[in-house]
Amino acid sequence: MADDLVSPMTLEGLDTSIIGRRISFHPELDSTMDEAARLADGGAEEGTTVVAEVQTAGRGRFGRTWISPAGNLWVSILLRPSLDALRYLSILAGVASARAIASTTGLDVTLKWPNDLRIGGLKVGGVLVENSLSGSAVRHAIIGIGINVALEPSSNGAITSTATALNIECGKPVDREKLLRHLLQEGDRLYGSLVAGTTPWPLLEEWRSLLDTLGKQVTVQDVVTSGQSSHSYSGIAEDVDAAGNLLLRLPEGQRIALAGGEVTVQQDPDSVSNQPV
Ligand code: BTN
Repeated sequence: MADDLVSPMTLEGLDTSIIGRRISFHPELDSTMDEAARLADGGAEEGTTVVAEVQTAGRGRFGRTWISPAGNLWVSILLRPSLDALRYLSILAGVASARAIASTTGLDVTLKWPNDLRIGGLKVGGVLVENSLSGSAVRHAIIGIGINVALEPSSNGAITSTATALNIECGKPVDREKLLRHLLQEGDRLYGSLVAGTTPWPLLEEWRSLLDTLGKQVTVQDVVTSGQSSHSYSGIAEDVDAAGNLLLRLPEGQRIALAGGEVTVQQDPDSVSNQPV
């Protein structure tokens, strides 16, 4: 395992136009999201990528803690997309991550809606997108991707039964540099098409085909952080729409579109990820 994950070897053959034009590696950070935001505020160029070996305050969706020890892949990418492109970033990151894991390891990766990376029903990674808007103008967006490579769920009580890692699934150490290179390249390719105004249909179709949630009986919990009551909906996850909403068929027959929330798939392990509640 390289001491510095972003070694010349990682960059060797890295053929990207935007993502990874500048990469900074930190042995320890609070969160790569925060460092990318600091760089954005300082005017860093689009595509700036931040990688950390350890995060002391890694976070997941809904502000949850993201357990972030050494040996894994914790990365954030600063982008400055149009408002139109912005809504596809989370989907783009999920697809790029799934492609990178598959091409690096040969493993079969699926997504739990919207973008939990899974292998055999266990969470191996996740995607977080944070935006900074000024009115309707996008100041910047930051894609955060966490992939468990060497994580040992058995040493992390809260996620023992819900998470996995690439080394476990492969039965041998996975080349993190190669994984990072593939991730940046796949992300760059997809982002290039998006900013060129190419129709996002192929991206949406690939994302849809990766979703292991569709056709399943699920419960979707609206996770509300500021003390408001949270709703939960149960039904069949029938499909997604062009905006990425989950189309849920309720027992009464009505179909509703959900923009966000935490999905529990019936028969899946109960909880979610690197996120002790
Ligand atoms: C999720 O809740 O599934 C999303 C997890 C995203 C974790 C990544 S790790 C790199 C980046 N830095 C963070 O603090 N979070 C994201």
